[in-house]
Amino acid sequence: SPASAPHGAGSGFVVVANRLPVDLQQLPDGTTRWKRSPGGLVTALEPVLRNNNGAWVGWAGVPDVDLDPIIEDGLELHPVPLTATEVADYYEGFSNGTLWPLYHDVIVRPEYRRHWWSAYVEVNRRFAEYTAKVAAEGATVWVQDYQLQLVPKMLRMLRPDVTIGFFLHIPFPPVELFMQMPWRTEIIEGLLGADLIGFHLPGGAQNFLYLAKRLAGQPTSRGTVGVRSKLGVVQVGFRTVRVGAFPISIASAELDEQSRRRSVRERAAQIRSELGNPKHILLGVDRLDYTKGIDIRLAALEELLREGRIDPADTVMVQLATPSRERVQSYIRMRGDIERQVGRINGEFARVGYPVVHYLHRPIPREELLAFFVAADAMLVTPLRDGMNLVAKEYVASHSGLNGALVLSEFTGAAAELRQAYLCNPHDLDSVKDAIMAALTDNADTRRRRMRALRRQVLAHDVDRWARAFLDALAQGQVAGSALLTD
Ligand code: ADP
Ligand code: G6P
Repeated sequence: SPASAPHGAGSGFVVVANRLPVDLQQLPDGTTRWKRSPGGLVTALEPVLRNNNGAWVGWAGVPDVDLDPIIEDGLELHPVPLTATEVADYYEGFSNGTLWPLYHDVIVRPEYRRHWWSAYVEVNRRFAEYTAKVAAEGATVWVQDYQLQLVPKMLRMLRPDVTIGFFLHIPFPPVELFMQMPWRTEIIEGLLGADLIGFHLPGGAQNFLYLAKRLAGQPTSRGTVGVRSKLGVVQVGFRTVRVGAFPISIASAELDEQSRRRSVRERAAQIRSELGNPKHILLGVDRLDYTKGIDIRLAALEELLREGRIDPADTVMVQLATPSRERVQSYIRMRGDIERQVGRINGEFARVGYPVVHYLHRPIPREELLAFFVAADAMLVTPLRDGMNLVAKEYVASHSGLNGALVLSEFTGAAAELRQAYLCNPHDLDSVKDAIMAALTDNADTRRRRMRALRRQVLAHDVDRWARAFLDALAQGQVAGSALLTD
């Protein structure tokens, strides 16, 4: 059962996410250790929480373990247990077999299974109950992402005194797609339990406003939603729910500083030489996910090699892929496809000792990853759909020398801000190939000018600014109340 706050004190600031910032690893010899959790949500929120004492409610990443709360650097971690069946039905099933593909433009067909939904409701209730025990009187609770869309409403019923924010880290889909969802009204009503609902882009906020009116029958504001401004409003009885766009980011200054360190520079030079000192290093860094378009950048490379526009004697590609959701069918299939593609390209174009594509299927330590960013002449970020994509921003932040180029899909949230990247349409292979060629062959001045513009954006809009914008809007809402219901 959830651990209560001692003497009813509790935490004044609580983050609730499916995962804790660290994963429990069970090693073959029976011992355990904690490891950083995968994905952009943790990358973004971890530095925010480090600077604000608070509590984090989430799953430790392994089934069937019941752990006591841990206090680490002033941050309280409250593990929520999941059974193996819940991991299969709530996490792998409804979260990653239904919601993830539906919200990413049905790149893969979402599966609608009633027992997955039941598990989702059940687990969301457990998260709400744990949070209700951890939060102090009048606390601010910030619920994260698609796995927990029912928590705002459930928590409000348990704890009407707390202020509730919700942020969606993935795209919020077009209305026509969302309407497929058998439990569409329940999800919209679940989210409407929050005081403020945040999306990366104004488009997502607008889709939500339309659905709140259509499915929940609530009056909504009509004006367009801005970026960190002009919030939309849904009137739910006496409560005012606000809806806004808050594009997430990274700890840019920290990354900039770390990437200038001598140890990182030296490791980057060493990576170059280990790769045979090629003229061009292309880099991909992703969770191994079908949304990321890893297959597309490989197909582009393959055609460029075949046409002789890229010379395998002077160009290498490095693809670093973190294992992800490895028991979900669509991920198993995609992994096979990508590994076959890598094998085919090397089979056709590599020489002994000189692969064209270097592919690592494992998480890379932060320092080492930074050295890869620094070493790469061009970063390939080609998702078919991505809420934001922090990798693109990390690459930009680690190029103080202005000597890199970013190839970026228009279908990422980041493309709305990083207009000076080499933008491409991942559905149009020629557009991807041309963007890669331009990134590699544009003259140094053009590349520097573009990188300078990108860096200005990323350094001025860091993750602290994101968190502040969201939390300020959340706090202001409590003061302003329904005075905001204007068109
Ligand atoms: P997502 O949240 O969908 O995984 P993002 O690009 O927003 O995508 O965030 C991914 C985060 O995971 C980034 O901080 C990135 O540096 C990290 N990451 C991705 N691939 C790897 C890898 N192979 N090794 C280590 N970290 C990785
Ligand atoms: C994305 C999602 C996060 C998720 C992460 C890693 O960033 O928005 O909610 O935690 O991917 O995926 P995983 O399924 O391993 O938690």
